[in-house]
Amino acid sequence: MSRTVYVNGDYLPETEAKVSIFDRGFLMADAVYEVTSVLDGRLIDFPGHLARLERSLSELDMKKPAAFDELLEIHRELVRRNDLGDGMIYLQITRGSDGDRDFVFPDPETTEPTLVLFTQSKPGLADHPAAKRGIKVIGIEDIRWGRRDIKTVQLLYPSMGKMIAKRAGADDAWMVEDGFVTEGTSNNAYIVRGNTIVTRQLSTDILHGITRAAVLRMAREAQMQVEERPFTLEEARAADEAFVTSASAFVMPVVEIDGVALGDGTPGPVATRLREIYIEESRKAAI
Ligand code: PDD
Repeated sequence: MSRTVYVNGDYLPETEAKVSIFDRGFLMADAVYEVTSVLDGRLIDFPGHLARLERSLSELDMKKPAAFDELLEIHRELVRRNDLGDGMIYLQITRGSDGDRDFVFPDPETTEPTLVLFTQSKPGLADHPAAKRGIKVIGIEDIRWGRRDIKTVQLLYPSMGKMIAKRAGADDAWMVEDGFVTEGTSNNAYIVRGNTIVTRQLSTDILHGITRAAVLRMAREAQMQVEERPFTLEEARAADEAFVTSASAFVMPVVEIDGVALGDGTPGPVATRLREIYIEESRKAAI
């Protein structure tokens, strides 16, 4: 079945949606994005995703193509038109196209941003089998640019990282810079020692995960200790548990790092509990 997607004000069948070959998103990765998950037809953590989108745009001097309410309405309309129960909505804003290729930014007065949204249906998103068995990760060097706090579409290296992991028989990769883990290719990374959760502190080195913010708040509310500091792969391999968070994976247990099983090699109690709390609370707060 063909999806209905959104492009610059129009709802169209996916086969009819078009963006210029001169669009700076296509030519220069001059674009930002957000992924919002949908459970039972309702949006998870939407205000957080919109707040981060605004920040990404302002850090890059990009124009906001629509107001919060309008973007919310487009998300909801796509859910309706595609009869989306569980899945994700992908939103991308590019600096648009002035009809040629030029390194210099086009004048925002005359060049409108491009706004594209589409849905991805994932029935049973909250019951992903990987959450029951946990995932395996390997360490790779982090060679991305220095503004990972801006959610740009420069995803070639994270994509390559996922492929390196797949070829090594793992599910994902944790990136390492100066000896310390930054984050996963498309998620934030955590280790657990006893009742303490350790995750890298916010900076320009990592994406400020919306799921991260919610999960850390819920962990503190559940009387867990949270330490926001860098950790090494060596410390991670010796941890009791590990997990990752993202809008599409929620809280996903990690059971193996570089071939070393954590604990008994099954999802640990802290990750399992946080996943349950996060999904339950998010369903309640969904809009
Ligand atoms: N990725 N770190 C990176 C590098 C990411 O790409 C993501 C999200 C996260 C988690 O952020 P959040 O909790 O706000 O989803 C951290 C999305 C899901 C993606 O690219 O599909």
